[in-house]
Amino acid sequence: MSEDMNGGMDNTLTDPLSSTNLMSLTIDGQEIQAEKGQTIVQAAQKNGIYIPTLCALHADKESGLKHDLAPGTCRICTVKANGRTTAACTTPISQGLVVENDTPELNDLRKTIVELLFVEGNHFCPSCEKSGSCDLQALAYRYQMLTPRFHYAFTPRKVNADMPKLLWDGNRCILCRRCVLAIRTEEGEPLFVFANRGDKSTITVDTELIQDISEELAQQAMDICPVGAIIRKGKGFDTPFGQRKYDHSPIGSDTACSSGENKAGGEKS
Ligand code: SF4
Ligand code: SF4
Ligand code: FES
Repeated sequence: MSEDMNGGMDNTLTDPLSSTNLMSLTIDGQEIQAEKGQTIVQAAQKNGIYIPTLCALHADKESGLKHDLAPGTCRICTVKANGRTTAACTTPISQGLVVENDTPELNDLRKTIVELLFVEGNHFCPSCEKSGSCDLQALAYRYQMLTPRFHYAFTPRKVNADMPKLLWDGNRCILCRRCVLAIRTEEGEPLFVFANRGDKSTITVDTELIQDISEELAQQAMDICPVGAIIRKGKGFDTPFGQRKYDHSPIGSDTACSSGENKAGGEKS
């Protein structure tokens, strides 16, 4: 499409791919092509290959985002790229790149990350509003986590129920930073911010700005949180059992998997 026809739109969204924009790489031995500048996660997703993500988020109708988000905080997307361990959501592709993704070693590493997130926070799934729609819970099913191999930390966490439309539960927050990056006022001011460091890290809310948050932004905040840390008041248990996000389709089932090991999304029954 020519510049005139674009009418000022972003060329990367409308120009047909020229061969010079395409790169070849392999993921788990499967040769694929993807656009120069894409990350390994983006390239995999475009080619129907599942790489798990927790903090990264695709721009689509569901997320309401205009651009993909990759805070690079959770490391669940860890792959080996040319033999080097790296986060797939922040690593750009290169010509001839060889990516290992769905291997027993990497899947065990991912299971370990899920276990650590479970013992670090305080997760009581049966009473959680996000149960059945929670990415962390869905990954625990996918990697067949039973009892974490680590001790529970039982860390005291805060809950903020003072907001008019939202509730924030620090017991379930995995500090992914999605809310910090994505949930902003029309002027671009963040409503959620990171505070403190290390094991004292937490999310705090701008108490003034949050008062006037629109219904839409409140809903988006709940939707983009991968766990049940941001909940809309009065809406938490809206979706009945059997109709929740992962009740019928396990996480990753919207993309093909290269090995059968975890294809069924765990042994969810
Ligand atoms: S946030 Fe997810 S993992 Fe945590 S209690 Fe809720 S459903 Fe369970
Ligand atoms: S509140 Fe949710 S979106 Fe924000 S950092 Fe915690 S887990 Fe991530
Ligand atoms: S999804 Fe890549 S670091 Fe979180």
